[in-house]
Amino acid sequence: MQSYVIEGKNKIEGTIKASGSKNAALPIMGAAILNPEEVTFYNIPNIEDTKITLQILKILGCKETIDSDKICIASKNMTNKTIPKDLMHKLRSTVILAGAILGRFGEATFSYPGGCNIGKRPIDLHLKAFREMGVEIEEKEDYIHCKAPNGLIGKTIKLEFPSVGATENIILASVYCKGTTHIINAAKEPEIQDLARCLNKMGAKVYGAGTSKITICGVSKLHKAEYRIMSDRIETGTLLCAAAITGGEIRVENADAEDLLDVLYKLKDMGCKIWIDTQGITLKAPKQLKATSVETMPYPGFPTDMQPIIGAVMTKAKGISSIKENIFENRFKYTEDLVKMGADIEYNEKENIIKINGGKILEGKIVSSADLRGGAALVLAGLAANGTTRVENIEYILRGYEHLEEKLKKLGANIKVKKG
Ligand code: EPZ
Repeated sequence: MQSYVIEGKNKIEGTIKASGSKNAALPIMGAAILNPEEVTFYNIPNIEDTKITLQILKILGCKETIDSDKICIASKNMTNKTIPKDLMHKLRSTVILAGAILGRFGEATFSYPGGCNIGKRPIDLHLKAFREMGVEIEEKEDYIHCKAPNGLIGKTIKLEFPSVGATENIILASVYCKGTTHIINAAKEPEIQDLARCLNKMGAKVYGAGTSKITICGVSKLHKAEYRIMSDRIETGTLLCAAAITGGEIRVENADAEDLLDVLYKLKDMGCKIWIDTQGITLKAPKQLKATSVETMPYPGFPTDMQPIIGAVMTKAKGISSIKENIFENRFKYTEDLVKMGADIEYNEKENIIKINGGKILEGKIVSSADLRGGAALVLAGLAANGTTRVENIEYILRGYEHLEEKLKKLGANIKVKKG
């Protein structure tokens, strides 16, 4: 187990570049399975989740060449259509690879992906959509066997919930479909728009990504392509919040404010000054943060992945803040450790709401990450707390943030990694 040891009260100040987006990289690496011609991706973040995904692609038979700033993937000789169970369980997003395998070969075998501590995270919407596209699904011995005996057929699929993963999976599965596929009530996240841009660069025909109706016209083949993936909007939001909670001033470059507007509105509401330009976002924290309220929603609403992060900032905001979590059923675990550090938080489990009576002094304690974004929230609290904070189980955090310790050090934080 690894930990961060943080000496608090240093202001987070300076300029930093955002890395590539974890949640765009994962489905886009799935697109490499669809395309037997060589694809080259730039700006893929070097984090645990992308390393595991590359491991799976290799096991499936893809050839990978990794340079400092680019990854070339050739799936021409790919024959294996089964995603290994042990790797499926390591990563939720592996289920998206299933749609790509299904789209390419008309069959795929995988197991239920790992949930994580934020909720059950079923895949019923994915499987329902596959069935509607002519896929026969058989579940046995913890594996899900998918087969489309007559190939996948383009259909109009209405999602009961704008699921990001289900939307991505249907897009990947339908690229070579006979006919046209329409997704109604599709998720609109920027990462889905990035996947569509990447697929279209390969010769696919995906229209309407970013709206609630996406149309995919089946094509017979894809061609060689290069693609630079988008920046990580959640990492950008996390770095901006690190400056907000420590009373600092930061400029995040390679950040697109368009992907994060609701978060920027809320930070402004809390008293932060924010400037945006084509290259990035600058934030200057106020002397005293003000309380605000947040409800997590599908894009373009406030992103659930920023919920724990803004929750940490709210502990320093004078007054009563509130957060209603509408996307996941168990995403407030981090508040137990914030309370241990001196935060005054009330949790209404029935309504999935927390109320934070902010402006308290936080004291450094030994705390433990229970999930990726909850762990990041504890890091931010440690940056603002008096004394020393030890954040344990940072393996969760390393899954989704590239070089976080180095970036925070460059911005003035006193943080180091302790093994064991
Ligand atoms: C993606 O997860 C992201 N992960 C999550 O980021 C993000 O929180 C989430 O979208 C919502 O924006 C990746 O992109 C790799 P969903 P995903 O399907 O696709 C329920 C992070 O911290 N649901 O939109 O799993 C589900 O249980 C991660 O980077 C079903 O009920 O999210 C959840 O309550 C965490 N049945 C809600 O929908 C299904 O078949 C949203 O899930 C699918 C989902």
